[in-house]
Amino acid sequence: MGSELRKDMPVLQVTDLSKDYMIDDQRLKAVDNVSFTADRGEMISIVGHSGSGKTTLLSLIGGLTKPDRGRVLIDGTDLWALDDRKRSELRSRRVSFIYQFSSLIPTLTALENIILPTTFGDFSADVEQYARELLGIVGLEDKARSYPSHLSGGQQRRIAIARAFINNPEIVLADEPTGDLDEETEQQIIALFKRMNGEKKVTFIIVTHNREIADRTSRQMRMSNGVLVAQEQGNHL
Ligand SMILES: Nc1ncnc2c1ncn2[C@@H]1O[C@H](COP(=O)(O)OP(=O)(O)O)[C@@H](O)[C@H]1O
Ligand SMILES: [Mg+2]
Repeated sequence: MGSELRKDMPVLQVTDLSKDYMIDDQRLKAVDNVSFTADRGEMISIVGHSGSGKTTLLSLIGGLTKPDRGRVLIDGTDLWALDDRKRSELRSRRVSFIYQFSSLIPTLTALENIILPTTFGDFSADVEQYARELLGIVGLEDKARSYPSHLSGGQQRRIAIARAFINNPEIVLADEPTGDLDEETEQQIIALFKRMNGEKKVTFIIVTHNREIADRTSRQMRMSNGVLVAQEQGNHL
């Protein structure tokens, strides 16, 4: 397939995606037949009540939870048709996940945590410099050598956010990324997302309860009981 073709292809195609959980003989449809596509550089928000399936949907798209039915195509490649090694490789090169809860390695410093995902792929001499730049963008340049236990919850979260960009991902999946941040930090994070979106055409899928963030995305989706119930255009920034 030529690279010209791939430019026009949606960066993400989700088709009839479903994931059930069995709870005491009851089948819970956590994600129920969800389909949508995202073009390169789109910024999509997903809102919905707690338990509506937002985190499960992100983890199916991010290759962390295996769907029961349906497909996830990333740049046309069927994520769940790959073997484990190929799937991790694709994920580590193209998709980044910002988890809802802290996910830093406690025995690594802030800077080492940010660099960690690169050690899976190609390591270049510029990586440390870029990691420091990302630390600066999230306002923590003076914490490069700090360990997570010496950082506040909000600072740890900002490091996890910085880490998401180290491999120059095409898609960033963010699960309530500003949940426990103060307003000023939240604004910094939104600015970082906008910058990565504008400069590098990173595609974002952001689960959020924050109306302001949702309003600033180009498309808003709503989930209810595992189903994608509405898609609306937002105000482009
Ligand atoms: N590993 C799991 N085992 C069983 N049920 C789960 C699991 N993960 C999520 N669920 C259930 O699936 C539904 C959707 O959960 P989740 O995707 O976390 O929702 P949200 O992120 O919108 O709050 C919830 O009812 C939740 O309890
Ligand atoms: Mg969730």
